[in-house]
Amino acid sequence: MKLPSLKIAAHILALLPAIWLFWQGWLLYDFQDNALTANPIKYIHHYTGDWAIRFLLLGLAISPLRKITGWNRVIAFRRMVGLYAFFYVMLHLLNFIVLDYYFDWAIIIKEIIKRPAITFGMTAIILLLPLAVTSTRGWIRRLGKKWVKLHKLIYPITILAVVHNFMMVKADILQPAIHMAILAVLLGYRLYYWFLLRRKANPANPKPRSSKGAGSGMATTAEKP
Ligand code: HEM
Repeated sequence: MKLPSLKIAAHILALLPAIWLFWQGWLLYDFQDNALTANPIKYIHHYTGDWAIRFLLLGLAISPLRKITGWNRVIAFRRMVGLYAFFYVMLHLLNFIVLDYYFDWAIIIKEIIKRPAITFGMTAIILLLPLAVTSTRGWIRRLGKKWVKLHKLIYPITILAVVHNFMMVKADILQPAIHMAILAVLLGYRLYYWFLLRRKANPANPKPRSSKGAGSGMATTAEKP
């Protein structure tokens, strides 16, 4: 399969969860049977939050996948995956602002400040914003090396998101525990790769070197702007 066709297939796959959610929303609005349960707002929180975390983790998995499999073309999907993480996070935030609190900014701000879990989530979204904005080829060219540094923010962002996920879950911690384990493996891989690079570069006098290529999540084309 050629790259453009693969990209179209990836877009369709990435949009399917959102299309399904909007379809269920329409069924609810139309008083028809739907999957949104007796508490649709809570359901949408969980659904969009879970998809946002999945895309964040998938974005971090692409670079190791390329190194392990040697399938270089996979890197062409990293920016797309990062932007879909942003898309699902925005749906998650909109659900909170529009459906949950109906634009009651006083309560929304109070919740963000007073509930540490929400503070973590909000910090992750604020940090994600510049990554989404600068994910275009123009910004990659303009920022040069700074772009690579900026996009390393994806690591604290994903950590904040997984911590938020852990704090939000009330009883069953299996899912956030799985997310945390995947994140630990992905960060552990990068650490291992960084040490490997350092030792290869200068075995006698190991000096930290950039682990360029171990890569962030949102955009990837920085390696070949
Ligand atoms: C990168 C940012 C974020 C990510 C990846 C994220 C992801 C998640 C995940 C995975 C869950 C738990 C879903 C489950 O239990 O299955 C969750 C729950 C929740 N999130 Fe977020 N979140 C983010 C930011 C935010 C922000 C900024 C807010 C509000 C301003 C927010 C509000 C909530 C609420 C209220 C719940 C709990 C829903 C409930 O149990 O009723 N999240 N989030």
